[in-house]
Amino acid sequence: MKKVTLTIDGKKVEAQEGEILLWVALDNGIYIPNLCALREREQPYAGCRLCFVEIEGYPEPVTACTEPVKEGMIVKTQTEEVQKLQKTAAELILSTHHIDCGHCKKNKKCELQKIARHLKIKLKPKRLRLISKDLPVDDSHPLFTYDPNKCVLCGKCVWVCKEKQGVGTLNFAYRGFEMVVTTFNKLPLGEVQCNQCGSCVEVCPVGALLLKESHP
Ligand code: FES
Repeated sequence: MKKVTLTIDGKKVEAQEGEILLWVALDNGIYIPNLCALREREQPYAGCRLCFVEIEGYPEPVTACTEPVKEGMIVKTQTEEVQKLQKTAAELILSTHHIDCGHCKKNKKCELQKIARHLKIKLKPKRLRLISKDLPVDDSHPLFTYDPNKCVLCGKCVWVCKEKQGVGTLNFAYRGFEMVVTTFNKLPLGEVQCNQCGSCVEVCPVGALLLKESHP
């Protein structure tokens, strides 16, 4: 594969032609907010809409997780337009996220906290009405708990369970505000097929899927 040179926020970086811009930026110490991207995933999900960047010559901002790099690309990750898009996406996610950081096992390791810090927004955004989903926490699995009220619908657990582990225990159900990650027929996790690999917990960027206390 051909090597290319591009510029991100004024920094010249080298990459293989066709590499995904998000990973090139992150690997070079340039943070772009992201929740749904997985390196192993060939077809990016691009559902969280957090990773917008501007590329010189492009008519509008694009998502860095779907953009292959090219020779001479000039990328900006901090323009006013980009920040506006990223903040709106983050605030929409936060408006339905059950904020209880003080009691959450993921506190200080949560990707949503990192994104809010990076974008200088509050975890409880004032601009939008906070909507509580009030869904029951599933504690039925021997290995982990699942709190759908903290789920950010990034789809990482769904993808690893199906595509990597070949199980498909978790999936999306419903649409719009009602959308949730759940099991077939919404059965408790303790009652469905699961190989107990823990991959879903590993990829969860927030505190939705957490190992139980006996599994630190
Ligand atoms: S990381 Fe690009 S849209 Fe989610």
